[in-house]
Amino acid sequence: MNNSPIGIFDSGIGGITILNSIKNLLPNESIIYYSDNLNSPYGNKSKIEIEKLSFKNVEFLINKGCKIIVVACNTATTNSIKKLRANFNIPFIGIEPAIKPAAMKTKSGLIGVLATEGTLSSLLFGKTSSNHSLNVNIIEKNAEGLVELIEKGIFHGEKIEEILKKCLLPMIEQKIDHLVLGCTHYPILINTIKSIIPNTIKIIDNGEAVALQTKRILKKNQIENSSLELKYLFYCNGSPMSLNKILNNKFTVNKV
Ligand code: DGL
Repeated sequence: MNNSPIGIFDSGIGGITILNSIKNLLPNESIIYYSDNLNSPYGNKSKIEIEKLSFKNVEFLINKGCKIIVVACNTATTNSIKKLRANFNIPFIGIEPAIKPAAMKTKSGLIGVLATEGTLSSLLFGKTSSNHSLNVNIIEKNAEGLVELIEKGIFHGEKIEEILKKCLLPMIEQKIDHLVLGCTHYPILINTIKSIIPNTIKIIDNGEAVALQTKRILKKNQIENSSLELKYLFYCNGSPMSLNKILNNKFTVNKV
């Protein structure tokens, strides 16, 4: 069990931003990554659909022998992690928008959250944001269309800028001092985001927190890898183009 891989899934390549944090913090762990890009994006799907897809992704990773599952997708976590934990006997780590750290650090009392419709409308997101609603105002924007472009291998350019500006300019105007990237795809656009917002606005996401939590859970369950043999395997069920692009063609992407 200890030498089994960590399983990570997302609706596409966004989870690679989480994989990178995990790989940096846990260089002695093997990883299997699964991109359900045939069904991407998850952002405008119903809770039931997202749950069904998440179940399939977890089954895929468990069949590959994973010892722990990282749900590297805010939309899948906020809509399905409760059911996943109730149905599978394996530890789960999820990711949700980093409202708590932003709410603790804000001075203006205004934070912006960029996420998918599926995340913003979820019960879990509603609960977390109302926990902080007394001292913080949250400006939420659904960056509709960004995930689709990223999955087509478009990481910058006019269309990306247009969607980002539509979401970010009103937040800047309202004087947010923290911007939460509530979708694992968005850190891929960090350079364009930074070119739009003033550098007084701090950008936060939960990528490193997820890696730290993964480390804690491996330790708690005493399932840290002790083998020197490492493997990184990548799978997708749609076109491997965008996964190859984000991985700079350094790994083989297996199509299932
Ligand atoms: N990476 C997913 C997330 O964090 C993208 C969601 C989607 O497929 O729309 O929410």
